[in-house]
Amino acid sequence: MPYEVQGVVARSEGAPVTTETIVVPDPGVGEVVVRVQACGVCHTDLHYREGAINDEFPFLLGHEAAGIVDAVGAGVGNVAAGDFVVLAWRAPCGQCRSCRRGRPWYCFDSGNASQRMTLADGTELSPALGIGAFAERTLVHAGQAVKVSPEARPEAAGLIGCGVMAGLGAAMNTGGVSRGDSVAVIGCGGVGNAAITGARLAGAAIVIGIDIDDRKLEWARKFGATHTVNSTSTDPVVAVRELTGGFGVDVAIEAVGRPETYEQAFFARDLAGTVVLVGVPDPSMRIDLPLIEVFGRGGALKSSWYGDCLPSRDFPMVIDLYLQGRLDLDGFVSETIGIADVEEAFERMERGEVLRSVVVM
Ligand SMILES: NC(=O)c1ccc[n+]([C@@H]2O[C@H](COP(=O)([O-])OP(=O)(O)OC[C@H]3O[C@@H](n4cnc5c(N)ncnc54)[C@H](O)[C@@H]3O)[C@@H](O)[C@H]2O)c1
Ligand SMILES: [Zn+2]
Ligand SMILES: [Zn+2]
Repeated sequence: MPYEVQGVVARSEGAPVTTETIVVPDPGVGEVVVRVQACGVCHTDLHYREGAINDEFPFLLGHEAAGIVDAVGAGVGNVAAGDFVVLAWRAPCGQCRSCRRGRPWYCFDSGNASQRMTLADGTELSPALGIGAFAERTLVHAGQAVKVSPEARPEAAGLIGCGVMAGLGAAMNTGGVSRGDSVAVIGCGGVGNAAITGARLAGAAIVIGIDIDDRKLEWARKFGATHTVNSTSTDPVVAVRELTGGFGVDVAIEAVGRPETYEQAFFARDLAGTVVLVGVPDPSMRIDLPLIEVFGRGGALKSSWYGDCLPSRDFPMVIDLYLQGRLDLDGFVSETIGIADVEEAFERMERGEVLRSVVVM
């Protein structure tokens, strides 16, 4: 029997989201239905509502979720009813040119459910990032449901499904931060603070948090930044050089998604250092860098999609670190809210008042 549940829907560009009855089909081959317990509010959900991702309205929003597997379709072997899972927007296909070459974290054909969830009148919904988890139940590809320790709080665990994993992975996977490295993180929101956490876990000796908002810098120190710089009053490139013996950092992570902050990251790194772009720019943005500097500084200019994570490998590891008290996932949960409160949470997010609001169901 299909499920009728409440879900948060963006019906048209810019219109406030509404809580509506949606229909979730029984899981088909390779699909699972998950009873969502908690789902974080991410900037990407707001981008969907604003029509900045695509125009496939109506969207079922929400994609940073944890919950319990309710039912599995035919051929599902990785999870069973009753398992506690975190949902991932990357489910490697195993067949594409990247998976076949042993790099599933770049998978170019990631799996999603083949059936569609709908509004009560049958209108098909587009689930945000192929998930759609501001809903009491959601339908996903089995590979998107990653089993983790059930001892984790759902409101904290769900956050590794997007922004926190993107930041951790930007440092640990893409940036390859290792013992004794110096690291700068530009933009200390949810993603940037996760990058600071990742740099600390990887053994960085110096971690410099840079932001334009003192409140964010206070959070950065809480997550382990050894130094912070407010770039409205201090030139961040000069400050980073001063803090690193005049050289610059080994790894500079951009977690804003703007040309000026990318250029700061570019010039704040040491020779042979690495720049990691994890912030998402909009299509109109351009950068202008002297090509001789690109050559002369050597090193690597990299982008980080979802922290180059492999959910089946990384989610259980991150949850174990959290349960051992080595990673403060709870620190990212600024508040818990009800399913009808997402619109107000978008406003608090835009005012910079929260790292994450988390819908609890
Ligand atoms: N690559 C990925 O897979 C991935 C995944 C999730 C999110 N993201 C992107 O990461 C970025 C950050 O996301 P978030 O959730 O942390 O957002 P956020 O709004 O919580 O954080 C952004 C931070 O940047 C700061 N900031 C803004 N302008 C700045 C400037 N000029 N200099 C320094 N700091 C500045 C803000 O004060 C804020 O603290 C976004 O672009 C988001 O789309 C990327
Ligand atoms: Zn693939
Ligand atoms: Zn997200």
